[in-house]
Amino acid sequence: MSQFWKPGSEKPRLLDDEEGGVLFYSASASSSSGFGYSNIEKQRQRLPVYKYRTAILYLVETHATTIIVGETGSGKTTQIPQYLKEAGWADGGRVIACTQPRRLAVQAVASRVAEEMGVKLGEEVGYTIRFEDLSKTGVTMVKFLTDGVLLREMMDDPLLTKYSVIMVDEAHERSLSTDILLGLLKKIQRRRPELRLIISSATIEAKSMSTFFQTSRKRRGLEGEESGPRTDPAILSVEGRGFNVQIHHIEEPVPDYLQAAVSTVLSIHEQEPMGDILVFLTGENDIDAAVQLLNEEAQNNGKHSSGLVVLPLYSGLSRADQDLIFSPTPRGKRKVVISTNIAETSLTLEGIVYVVDSGFSKQRFYNPISDIENLVVAPISKASARQRAGRAGRVRPGKCYRLYTEEYFVNEMSAHAIPEMQRSNLVSCVIQLKALGIDNILGFDWPASPSPEAMIRALEVLYSLGVLDDDAKLTSPLGFQVAEIPLDPMISKTILSSNQLGCSEEIITIAAILSVQSIWVSARGAQRELDEAKMRFAAAEGDHVTYLSVYKGFIQSGKSSQWCYKNFINYHAMKKVIEIREQLRRIAQRLGIVLKSCERDMEVVRKAVTAGFFANACCLEAHSQGGMYKTIRSAQEVYIHPSSVLFRVNPKWIIYNSLVSTDRQYMRNVISIDPSWLMEAAPHFYRQQRNPIAS
Ligand code: CDP
Ligand code: MG
Repeated sequence: MSQFWKPGSEKPRLLDDEEGGVLFYSASASSSSGFGYSNIEKQRQRLPVYKYRTAILYLVETHATTIIVGETGSGKTTQIPQYLKEAGWADGGRVIACTQPRRLAVQAVASRVAEEMGVKLGEEVGYTIRFEDLSKTGVTMVKFLTDGVLLREMMDDPLLTKYSVIMVDEAHERSLSTDILLGLLKKIQRRRPELRLIISSATIEAKSMSTFFQTSRKRRGLEGEESGPRTDPAILSVEGRGFNVQIHHIEEPVPDYLQAAVSTVLSIHEQEPMGDILVFLTGENDIDAAVQLLNEEAQNNGKHSSGLVVLPLYSGLSRADQDLIFSPTPRGKRKVVISTNIAETSLTLEGIVYVVDSGFSKQRFYNPISDIENLVVAPISKASARQRAGRAGRVRPGKCYRLYTEEYFVNEMSAHAIPEMQRSNLVSCVIQLKALGIDNILGFDWPASPSPEAMIRALEVLYSLGVLDDDAKLTSPLGFQVAEIPLDPMISKTILSSNQLGCSEEIITIAAILSVQSIWVSARGAQRELDEAKMRFAAAEGDHVTYLSVYKGFIQSGKSSQWCYKNFINYHAMKKVIEIREQLRRIAQRLGIVLKSCERDMEVVRKAVTAGFFANACCLEAHSQGGMYKTIRSAQEVYIHPSSVLFRVNPKWIIYNSLVSTDRQYMRNVISIDPSWLMEAAPHFYRQQRNPIAS
């Protein structure tokens, strides 16, 4: 087993050992030795978490679960895995895992840690995100991965035997996958007492997490006290070194947070001393718009904005753009990073002195009554607002400008966000647990219980998809095959149906394209040109078929970036599509799907989509103005999104891929269908509806 504190050195001081297993340590003397540290080594030692190195290693050695709470930027993510490796937790072919809810964070921290360790990314330090594996079995010792990927790994190795320590990072985010993972890890711990868990986060109700991991049985063998770790969790809190942040609220509510954010940036630039600015908006669209507004300002009105370097930060970003975010600001310039809430706690940017907080983020909401899940721009919680403000105090005292009133902050904002588990569609969650052999899902030990209604809805959909049988067990082979494909079960079912329909090549292309954010370049100010470009590919059947022509064009152009540029297509997204498509082909072949093209027969493509997405069928309201549709499932009012090629075309029967909600519920990626296919695809599902298909 690993040794960590140097013989003869002081044992960390214990403040509160027995009370519910809560331990606090004061920083003990550093255990470093040697001389001639490189710059990087010095930087590492300056991080707040360094003072707790010995304490952390001691707790991990002696406790099955250690909960570490520490301010963002204190070094939890980048340092703790390295400490564990230095202490020997990766010896003998074992691997240290560190999970993140976000793909971009996985890539960014892995490359940072590889750099700090002076190794090539993908060797000793690697990462795995869906469709991208930069790790080597037998070589990689520290592996960063999304929590979703770790869940997938459980399908092949249910006890995750190759890992010695699993650090579940950013646990305060309470993402759906994090919660499922925590529930499963608790089970694994019982079978693998030697496994160590670290739950780490920026803010967390450490007590409730600790209660969750408290096992009722006090110790595993009573007499075997020395042989295994204590099963009650330890809690360690890392004191940060954040500077004071002055908070400014707006006096009157703003009608347009985007515009307000842009003018706030400009006035900071005009009036405040040097220091970078971090702006929190909600997603790719408003971020790109803000970037463009600021750049236009620079062109038209140079004196307000000269010296600004404006950069977007969101998950679809290419590696090159990510690197720009982390590179130091050029002398005499001021960097403005406009970000989603990824910069709230997952990533730390050096040099931020000013934060502009819109008060919003994109959040997932699910209504089990209507069975509708969508992404909504919604107010953040007080906890998030505090985190965002904290980003301004990294290097020196900073300022945070909130684009909402103090009254609103105090009286309207909720204290904490609701765990995603309680506001998500649970179809993917249920199928994953089923695939892991967990049958009593309602009785599963969750960190936060999902609603029974949502669970029942999920079971219903999976039953209709033919994935679960009457006893709610995975069907064979379909259920197991659907679970095997790392995509939403509805897409997976579409892929499997394409096998019988003879259009697997086309459906795999569509699945790959639906896996990237958008293949179009966002074109503010050039909307007309973008629409014209789209028209060159547009197919009467809808977006899915349109994507097939884009893909074909891209391949025929020899995968040319020039061609993409000319056609308003995002070249990086298309390269990603090619990669994902290749992986999906491999998975399909492994599942025995015959790769076959249907050539020009688009009817089978539409039928395959129907086989997976029948639950998302909608019908145009006969006498409605302005293209109102109703979902067949629950008669919800929905509209075709303006980005769809079927916008204003409004065919009578359509199926959508997903919903986004702004002023209305908009359907993204729609395809026209024949209603008779619905009964064919899911007789059970549609028999019970008072359905308009019959009328
Ligand atoms: O996880 P936590 O928020 O506690 O901190 P961290 O992500 O480990 O970051 C520790 C330090 O590493 C911060 O000062 C970051 O600025 C730095 N870092 C960096 O410079 N580049 C990265 N890609 C990641 C972290
Ligand atoms: Mg972190």
